[in-house]
Amino acid sequence: MVDYTVTVATTDLATAGTFNNVFIKLVGTDGESQHTWLVSLKGPLCFYSGAVSSFTVTCSVSIGKLILIEIGKKPHFIFPEDDWFPANVEVKSPEGDTYNFPIYRWITDSEVHRFKEGKALRVFEDDHHLGRYSRDQELKQRGEDYCWDEYLEGIPHCMRSEDPLDLPCEVRFSFTKTTEFLFTAATGLAELQLKGLSDCTENWPNIDAIHRVFCCKRTDISDYVQEHWKEDAFFGYQFLNGLNPMLIQRCSVLPKNFPVTDDMVSLGGQCVLADEMEKGNIFLCDYKRLDGLKTNNINGKKQYLMAPLVLLHKTPDDQLMPIAIQLKQTPADDNPIFCPTDSEYDWLTAKIFVRSADFNEHELNVHLLRTHLLAEVFAVSLLRNVPMVHPLYKLLVPHTRYTLQINNLARALLISENGVFTQFAASGGEGMRTLLKRSLSSVTYRSLCIPDDIADRGLEDVPKFYYRDDGLKLWEIIHRFVQGVLSFYYKNDTEVQKDTELQKWISDIFEHGFLSQAGTGIPESFTTVAELVKFVTMVIFTCSGQHSAVNAGQFDYAGWMPNSPISLQRSPPTTKGTTSEATMLQTLPAVNATVQGMSTVWLLSKQSTDSVPLGKYPEEHFSEKKPCKLIEDFQGELQMFSAIINARNKNLEVPYTYLDPMVVENSVAI
Ligand code: FE2
Repeated sequence: MVDYTVTVATTDLATAGTFNNVFIKLVGTDGESQHTWLVSLKGPLCFYSGAVSSFTVTCSVSIGKLILIEIGKKPHFIFPEDDWFPANVEVKSPEGDTYNFPIYRWITDSEVHRFKEGKALRVFEDDHHLGRYSRDQELKQRGEDYCWDEYLEGIPHCMRSEDPLDLPCEVRFSFTKTTEFLFTAATGLAELQLKGLSDCTENWPNIDAIHRVFCCKRTDISDYVQEHWKEDAFFGYQFLNGLNPMLIQRCSVLPKNFPVTDDMVSLGGQCVLADEMEKGNIFLCDYKRLDGLKTNNINGKKQYLMAPLVLLHKTPDDQLMPIAIQLKQTPADDNPIFCPTDSEYDWLTAKIFVRSADFNEHELNVHLLRTHLLAEVFAVSLLRNVPMVHPLYKLLVPHTRYTLQINNLARALLISENGVFTQFAASGGEGMRTLLKRSLSSVTYRSLCIPDDIADRGLEDVPKFYYRDDGLKLWEIIHRFVQGVLSFYYKNDTEVQKDTELQKWISDIFEHGFLSQAGTGIPESFTTVAELVKFVTMVIFTCSGQHSAVNAGQFDYAGWMPNSPISLQRSPPTTKGTTSEATMLQTLPAVNATVQGMSTVWLLSKQSTDSVPLGKYPEEHFSEKKPCKLIEDFQGELQMFSAIINARNKNLEVPYTYLDPMVVENSVAI
């Protein structure tokens, strides 16, 4: 007789433990054990949350090299069936070898579940028939559990599920996350002490009234925004380091539909626009995607959303100053080009229309589509096509945490028929659907890869551009890590080409994420290791850093409504000299739209207490030495980078924290 020592660890989530009886069967190259009930003196506490318990499984002879385990549970006669979330199982063989079986899955039924040994295996090297069988079975089940769905024609496909409770347990929020999210969602207005205002359809009587409402919940940056929102330098700064750093580009030729002349702009001293363009000091933000969108009707009133063009000048003291704003795309007499020399309220009103356009463009294109919806595509394709034992699954699954459920909630609570965005944003409703479609058709692979994107927008040497500085550095750190892990598994391009699971993963992303549009530049297949490394770097960067850059500052920058109005309720001035404080207040959103917007950005800026920062992998999917060492190096680099960001931020008037690895989450989780 020979003994195998089996150690079972249960995760420490509050509800992870089971009082049910647990059995195991070991399967090796030369045979298998009996189904063995795991019992010890600890009794029902063996599989309690956080417990690590050892047992002996006896076989008549050695069963050879272990391939997989079968594990399951049956209700105890006293205790009803309950759910169990084991972390992993370690088996020591009589030959002295140790095998590790990562699980990290909810077991909610009385069925038999198979888990393979932790060493990563690609499909073409999984040569044992039982290994191949369990691989096929796993993917077959996942194909049934994770189905593609079309929420709206022309946007990335999503996971089919009506309700968060339809989602498989393994991708649902934890108890902690659910409780905190629902609590903040349900009490958002109360938490911000805005209750009673959510039904008020009046206009704000003065800016002081907004001050009074706003003072109940603030951050250091939202305080700064409140103080500086009218200033040109801060207006310019936000195109680089605010919520939406994705639109600004260097301008070497004025667009034909934006006829700014030297007479209109004052560039300081003798500067001429053409010369400044030549020197690379002129920048453009063009909201053409918003042109002609059908706007919402809020409180029975038509809303206004412009498609502005903004010209900015980099001054000798490295400020980015707005010099001209045209609110509609087509030049006309009733579409004046506003300048800082116009009256205070003409210029401020023009800037308010730009900020409102930016809020709508940011939330739908930059935030929802380019991070949330794409992250869901990467996740669903991974879950459908790549088994747990595959190195890509081990590498990417931590970067999919909570994404399916948060997107399900976004569809239910924000963009559904009664969603907050649909009801209270200028683009809510039909405009939103058009904008999402236009947004997808403008996404390119290069625009998702920050080094290419910065180069294409000509922003390599713009000073004080912290999104770029931190983003490029973060990309480089992620790229080094991904390269280390993937080149450990893929020794040459042929191995990439013959990995059918990997190829299915990318071809599904091409089809369901980018609707088979070859013009996007998204690969349809992988032919080289380098291509694979770049794509996987983009996936991790999008789900972590990029999402943080466009998500984490929502309350900071949009909490103070005049800086980011969710909608505007008066048409823009068609001639100069017709605005005043009174017209500005009539233009800003009504009280109910304001407070709904505020409580939404409050909710969406709140990380849960169980959030996992970038590079932390509490679930240990890799068991080989090399990837484990690479993870350690990755964490070390991220920690050093965080210290550098913190030191830099001490000298900044407005710290840029959104790409600090200690702030960035591993996945799109909020
Ligand atoms: Fe988000």
